[in-house]
Amino acid sequence: MSYQYLLVEQDGPVAIITLNRPQQLNALCQALLRELEAALDAIAADENVRAVIITGAGERAFAAGADISELAQLPSATAGRELALRSHRLARKMADLPKPIIAAINGYALGGGLELALACDIRLAADTAQLGLPEVTLGIMPGWGGTQRLLRLTGPGVAKLLMMTGERISAQQAQQLAIVERVVPQAELLDAAKHLAHTLAGMPPLSIAAIKEAVNRGHDMALDDANAFEAGLFGALTATEDAKEGTRAFLEKRKPTWRGR
Ligand code: COA
Repeated sequence: MSYQYLLVEQDGPVAIITLNRPQQLNALCQALLRELEAALDAIAADENVRAVIITGAGERAFAAGADISELAQLPSATAGRELALRSHRLARKMADLPKPIIAAINGYALGGGLELALACDIRLAADTAQLGLPEVTLGIMPGWGGTQRLLRLTGPGVAKLLMMTGERISAQQAQQLAIVERVVPQAELLDAAKHLAHTLAGMPPLSIAAIKEAVNRGHDMALDDANAFEAGLFGALTATEDAKEGTRAFLEKRKPTWRGR
């Protein structure tokens, strides 16, 4: 499938989605978001894809936020709310995809751009990247899940500080605040993301899917409920062919062959 605002390529079992509006610093217009949904649907249906990378075209930006020219023309509060709900549906699709999604943050990740990265499973950032939620400076607020996802990563004080000031922070600061997991030199970012994606793609897929689900769902549950949920997933995995293969391969001192069953 070809897209106007995305490049989608496959590197073996890894799909690489590049947000491709470099002249606008990959600002997330509605058409781009619709294409992103379609690309994720195609990836969900393709069992050859085991891991996904999302990155931005060019050297300057991952994504500099929602498209401000579209925001400026929102006709009503209802339309604004619809815009937020649509992005929440996209984030839900990302969470429900039983394959890991890595954000490779190659430059500015601002506003909706950072919110998109926060909806990914793991974030790698170039050492030159800058991150922030500057919506307050436009007279609005983060509305694509940013208030809630940032809160869950940093706690309320840091989340309020960053959102109320709209301040941009460096990749290194973001790592200290647990907003990104790893920082690498810009020239090595895509290779680092591919290396990680291939590592995850080589893992037993049912385990990867269950770990993602346990963390995503468990995060919003009380501990006892989350542990019960984990036990259910763990139990289901122990009955899989891959669990038999993995344990047998260990005992036979050989490499396992995963079948995803
Ligand atoms: N929406 C629409 N267009 C955007 C955009 C956005 N979020 N961010 C950048 N662009 C466009 C600019 O309008 C400009 O277009 P032009 O060349 O047609 O004028 C182009 O991308 C380059 O941006 P520019 O502002 O000239 O680059 P800069 O190096 O001076 O500044 C930023 C870079 C990222 C600091 C600045 O573009 C910015 O603050 N962007 C908005 C960030 C934001 O508030 N995001 C939250 C949106 S909810």
